[in-house]
Amino acid sequence: MIHLKSKEEIEKMRSAAQIVVETLGKLKESVQPGVSTWDLDKMAEENAIKNGAKPAFKGYSDYPGSVCFAVNNEVVHGIPSKKKVLKEGDIVGLDFGVILDGFFGDSAVTVPVGEVSALAENLLKVTEASLLKGIDEATTKNRLFDISRAIQSYVENKGFSIVRSFVGHGIGTKLHEDPQVPNFVPENGSHAKGVKLKPGMVIAIEPMVNVGSPDIKILSDGWTAVTVDGTLSAHFEHTVAVTEDGPVILTQ
Ligand code: MF3
Ligand code: CO
Repeated sequence: MIHLKSKEEIEKMRSAAQIVVETLGKLKESVQPGVSTWDLDKMAEENAIKNGAKPAFKGYSDYPGSVCFAVNNEVVHGIPSKKKVLKEGDIVGLDFGVILDGFFGDSAVTVPVGEVSALAENLLKVTEASLLKGIDEATTKNRLFDISRAIQSYVENKGFSIVRSFVGHGIGTKLHEDPQVPNFVPENGSHAKGVKLKPGMVIAIEPMVNVGSPDIKILSDGWTAVTVDGTLSAHFEHTVAVTEDGPVILTQ
């Protein structure tokens, strides 16, 4: 069931989302060669708590960290570790969410560590642009898979691939609510267009884009998703409200 949010509830979600934005900003500033994902995780957790919020992922399905990391060929859900030290030329995904006053906010960015290859730079640019293309379609004139189609066609036209194993999601008083928000148009469904978008729907749109094959596998830690072929992957995410006046990015 899709929970439509009132204007007041959307404002509460904006408050949660703003803590996510501020925290991701701090992490971005701290990303540099020599820093560990453990250090970044602690920073994020402290910043959430300082703002009266709680990290959303910690303890969710027993996830042990506050941030989900993704270095290079990792797609999503990398667990923070003192042994995972960033180095020049890496790209690192930072996925963070909080709960504040009963509502969740969720956002992700992928950032370069120092100088990165032209390919990595292009992957980051295309993935972020695909998210914005998807958000542009989040209007009451459209259906859900208009978002999916915009993301998929943009990414595939640039020669990259869309991960199928993970999708975006509704968000509100739960981190994951209906509907699922695929970054590709599902091929076999009878609901080939997806649900109609309505004012008050709040969704986390989160394309994961690979340089090579779209396929992933999960490492033996039970969490870290990596590309099967070892190619680079990037991930960007925003929490977006559908309103009468068009899409509103709460994690802006
Ligand atoms: N942002 C991701 C998502 O929306 C991360 C959550 S997975 C978790 O699904 F288990 F770590 F919380
Ligand atoms: Co999410």
